[in-house]
Amino acid sequence: MDRNKIIALLNQDLEGEHAAIIQYLTHAYAMGEGEMTCEIEAIAREEMRHLDWLAETIVELGGVPSLERGKMRMGGDSVADWMRNDVLLEEDGINLYQEHIKSIDGPKIKRLLQRILSDEQSHHGDFQHFVDKAQKEGAKDVRGSRTGRVVQTLNWGIEHEYTVILQYLFQSYMTTNEEAKEELQDQAINEMQHLGWLAEKIVDISGNPRIEHTEVDRSTKTADMLQADIKIEQEVAAAYDRAAKETEDPGLKKLLLRIRDHEIYHTEVFSDLLKEEEHQG
Ligand SMILES: [Fe+2]
Ligand SMILES: [Fe+2]
Ligand SMILES: [Fe+2]
Repeated sequence: MDRNKIIALLNQDLEGEHAAIIQYLTHAYAMGEGEMTCEIEAIAREEMRHLDWLAETIVELGGVPSLERGKMRMGGDSVADWMRNDVLLEEDGINLYQEHIKSIDGPKIKRLLQRILSDEQSHHGDFQHFVDKAQKEGAKDVRGSRTGRVVQTLNWGIEHEYTVILQYLFQSYMTTNEEAKEELQDQAINEMQHLGWLAEKIVDISGNPRIEHTEVDRSTKTADMLQADIKIEQEVAAAYDRAAKETEDPGLKKLLLRIRDHEIYHTEVFSDLLKEEEHQG
């Protein structure tokens, strides 16, 4: 099979992983704290590892990892319905991986897809079990319909965090600077934490987290990437600072200041990397 065809198939798989991560996190946040939530978040983390392996393989083949999200299966009126949708999404993934394992002939890629497939089969069983468990335990959607300024600000934060998660991951795959690669991965993981905290906070105050992103910087030169990252980090550190000063809720204030401090740290890490990159370039 021609290299570009393989890259296209792997990108299709990657888009499926992206969809799974967002679908499962949406469900986990909407269910609030609990054992099932933790297990679903653990599954989402496995999908993140799959996404990472697929992206690295795509880059090794000379391709560019896709930033598109595949088709999600949202909707449903109860937690059991959501879990049924998660079973169906795993079936979508299983079918696709089985097809791709058949059609791709490189042993290394076949082995990787086989490895991912076995995880998806295990997830499929987990979600089937969660359908029953949700019914038995009467698991509920704990989100509320609160709107207003605070929920808006927190959803703005989620949008920002989701955007930079994609941006830093993409850059970490595309850069040839090993130190930048490692830092970008690290900061992306930190942004994932931020996204989780903000989503949990929205649910805590009876709102509905909205997990969407805005435009991702697609610079391919490391210095351009870092410049874009520094700009965005400076902007959001200031925005989190403003939001923290505005709120009367001490818990929320503490959360926003903690995230702000992380964003300041990110600005500094990226500024150091940029200096080194420019020095070497
Ligand atoms: Fe899965
Ligand atoms: Fe962040
Ligand atoms: Fe940041």
